[in-house]
Amino acid sequence: MTAELTETTAAAATKARPLLEVSDVGVVLGNGWRASRVLDEVSLTVWPGEIVGLVGETGSGKTTLARTVVGLARPRGGRVLFDGTEISRLRGAARRRERRSGHIQLIFQDPLRSLDPDLTVGDIVGEGLKIRGLPAAEVDARVVDALAAVGLVPALRHRQPGQISGGQRQRVSIARALAAKPRLLLCDEPVSALDASNRNYILRLLAGLRDSLGLSIVIISHDLSSLAGIADRVVVLYRGRIVEDGPVEQVFTAPRHPYTALLMASAPRVEAPGGDPDGELSVHQLRRTTADPAPPASPGACVFAARCPFAVDACAVQPPLAPVSGAVVARPAASSLAASSPAADGPADGHWTVACHRQSAWQALARARTATARR
Ligand SMILES: Nc1ncnc2c1ncn2[C@@H]1O[C@H](COP(=O)(O)OP(=O)(O)OP(=O)(O)O)[C@@H](O)[C@H]1O
Ligand code: SF4
Ligand SMILES: [Mg+2]
Repeated sequence: MTAELTETTAAAATKARPLLEVSDVGVVLGNGWRASRVLDEVSLTVWPGEIVGLVGETGSGKTTLARTVVGLARPRGGRVLFDGTEISRLRGAARRRERRSGHIQLIFQDPLRSLDPDLTVGDIVGEGLKIRGLPAAEVDARVVDALAAVGLVPALRHRQPGQISGGQRQRVSIARALAAKPRLLLCDEPVSALDASNRNYILRLLAGLRDSLGLSIVIISHDLSSLAGIADRVVVLYRGRIVEDGPVEQVFTAPRHPYTALLMASAPRVEAPGGDPDGELSVHQLRRTTADPAPPASPGACVFAARCPFAVDACAVQPPLAPVSGAVVARPAASSLAASSPAADGPADGHWTVACHRQSAWQALARARTATARR
């Protein structure tokens, strides 16, 4: 990786304020009677040098959130700030300028479909640079540089997407993003189509890019196990609403939202809450008592109410995201970042929030029900 690539991104990431702030964003897609609210009051903060995992089952709105950040979906209400600038308000030339800066790069969910099969890898990685009017020699140098950063040899730039493997295609997608010298990478399901060795390679690569370039990275996934050991924070989305947001280790150890616990139960390589028998059984209980697809929750009710075995009358009103009670919260990134990392300048204390009226009570209740069922 050249010094130039390193300097640009690392220098840009040293400010002690969030790089990305999404506040109370709503998104409605479709028209007329087909219109549906896909995101509702979504707020998300990403600090310089932070890796945030965004998880949720299919259709929960993960891709829509990423598309909203890059301006491909228009928020209805709320705002998106990038490095202090409200980019969701930019229009026309200002919007085009912001996009052309390349500061935010979205790596699309399906690398094969997002790479033009008729272009060479070199053309794909260098396309954005050519549009920006860079001289051919500089484009070529930056293409080689970006390919090297993802572990691909320069000769590969003469091949087409159909002539390389799935793992290499994913690396080309990342190289295309890196060539723009981004500060924030939004990776939409970067490893879901890959085998175990390619998955590990890509995840290690992303972590390395964060460390060497100071990049902020959002990794979208429906598989929590791919985030363990790489993400600093995990944000859980359910039907367009964030239901839990906290340090990855703490959320994985003791999720405070029943839906997070359910997701973890579906992730074979993530341990059940606490790793204790009661915790596992509480998840088992959850799995038995929930069904998907579930009917939509009543208007205004907790978004998970129709599936939740712990719902009470109060759940007829959607709970706001509130700090987890009685938890000592680790600073974001404290577990995996070097002290010199830009994220070490992040918030003085971390946060862990959950949108559940019964954030502590449901776990005790689940254990009690399980104990009764065992007798
Ligand atoms: N253009 C559109 N018009 C109407 N509804 C849409 C449109 N695009 C997406 N949706 C709906 O918005 C919801 C969220 O879709 P989105 O692609 O953001 O989900 P996702 O969490 O990324 O799912 P997956 O894990 O399957 O990729 C889904 O119910 C989807 O059907
Ligand atoms: S608020 Fe109620 S319905 Fe919603 S997750 Fe919590 S207990 Fe379940
Ligand atoms: Mg998606």
